[in-house]
Amino acid sequence: MPEVANVMDRLVSLAKRRGFVFQSSEIYGGLGSVWDYGPLGVELKKNIKERWWRSMVHERDDIEGLDAAILMHPKVWEASGHLAGFTDPLVDCRQCKNRFREDDPRIKGSPGQPDAQCPVCGSKGTLTAPRMFNLMFKTFMGPVEEAAAVVYLRPETAQGIYVDYMNVLQSSRQKIPFGIAQVGKAFRNEITPGNFIFRTREFEQMEMQFFVKPGTDQEWFEFWREERMKWVVGLGIRTERLRFHRHTPEELAHYAKDAYDIQYEFPFGWQEFEGIHNRTNFDLSRHQEASGKKLEYLDPATTERFIPYVVETSAGADRTALVVMVDAYHEEEVAGEKRVVLRFHPAIAPLKAAVFPLVNKDGMPELSRRIFDDLRTRHNVFYDDGGSIGRRYRRQDEAGTPFGITIDGQSTQDGTVTVRERDTLRQVRVAADGLVGYLAERLRS
Ligand code: GAP
Repeated sequence: MPEVANVMDRLVSLAKRRGFVFQSSEIYGGLGSVWDYGPLGVELKKNIKERWWRSMVHERDDIEGLDAAILMHPKVWEASGHLAGFTDPLVDCRQCKNRFREDDPRIKGSPGQPDAQCPVCGSKGTLTAPRMFNLMFKTFMGPVEEAAAVVYLRPETAQGIYVDYMNVLQSSRQKIPFGIAQVGKAFRNEITPGNFIFRTREFEQMEMQFFVKPGTDQEWFEFWREERMKWVVGLGIRTERLRFHRHTPEELAHYAKDAYDIQYEFPFGWQEFEGIHNRTNFDLSRHQEASGKKLEYLDPATTERFIPYVVETSAGADRTALVVMVDAYHEEEVAGEKRVVLRFHPAIAPLKAAVFPLVNKDGMPELSRRIFDDLRTRHNVFYDDGGSIGRRYRRQDEAGTPFGITIDGQSTQDGTVTVRERDTLRQVRVAADGLVGYLAERLRS
């Protein structure tokens, strides 16, 4: 599929060239499926995470925030089922020592049988029968590298919420139904990672666990499914590229009774970037059993005791950033020239405006600098006085900056500036004094 490769290749190349995303440890040849966010990428991802936090935690009375540690007691992963169940079936090639997922489409024949052919070295009969491989990264706590010191890097942030659920409940004086939200890193030793930042070994999740009375779980599940789609649409993503996918019984995770993915139509096909799961009381029951600590809720109204059910919303911050970048990426022709533009929603754009003195003389740099210094106290803005104005506009189009502010000869006379809108290319004259209000109105989400 050359076209698919082209779109992704062009986006990956733009991401590197403009400082959105770089390959980790690139000077050493890179580290497989680990990526770094450059100056523009870190702003984009931060804006996405902040917008999520605002809508989940600040704008709701019934959700509290949390930042749990990445390292947790190893018993957490026993209780959660990740040690036993968070596995992929893998096959090894005895000849070239490469390892593949059993369902790797490049494998010909049945692994473990003489007809099976290794997709890398081409040897026949060298692929082992499938064996289960756990996706959690292991490390050791303390100075001795022994079995008793093994700890894991969390493969999901959710477990930190479950084990802290009682602490949050008691300290915040919330009542059920209520939720706990968390943004943080998660790690999975993925065997078939790829597609840029779509599937990586280190990534960030934005997860919220909503604790409800058993019997009301399906209602809350539907509520959160709709809320999350509204939030995604609010990022400005094209709705025709969004859809729900309900999990079939075979697809359901070991903890889920029902689940929907929110999928986006990437150049490489429809794929999930957020999941809404009805996790029942699976996790809390398991932690109660394994820890011996009561995790029941006492309903003050009815004096009833129960282990809450959990509705989870789980989004990948990196995958959401990829959705945003892919959806924003446009190539078009303007006045006979190719223009590459990232049409980010202004509220999540890394830079909100760029300030350009038309020429570096006649009082224009001084006025431009004053305007820039005033705007930078409120927004992330950029100052660019290098090259022709057309080239400066193009650079900001590629960065996805929604507004370009040009200070010209007239500006020093009458105090007005030109504002160029990234998407419409419309240029309007605005009083420099009114710029703060002009931008505030347009950057409101
Ligand atoms: N707590 C539930 C959970 O972790 P999941 O469907 O395995 O559910 C949720 O993951 C989200 O986390 C996914 O929709 C995706 O956005 C993100 N995610 C999962 N694995 C990822 C990976 N290897 N690379 C990047 N993002 C990933």
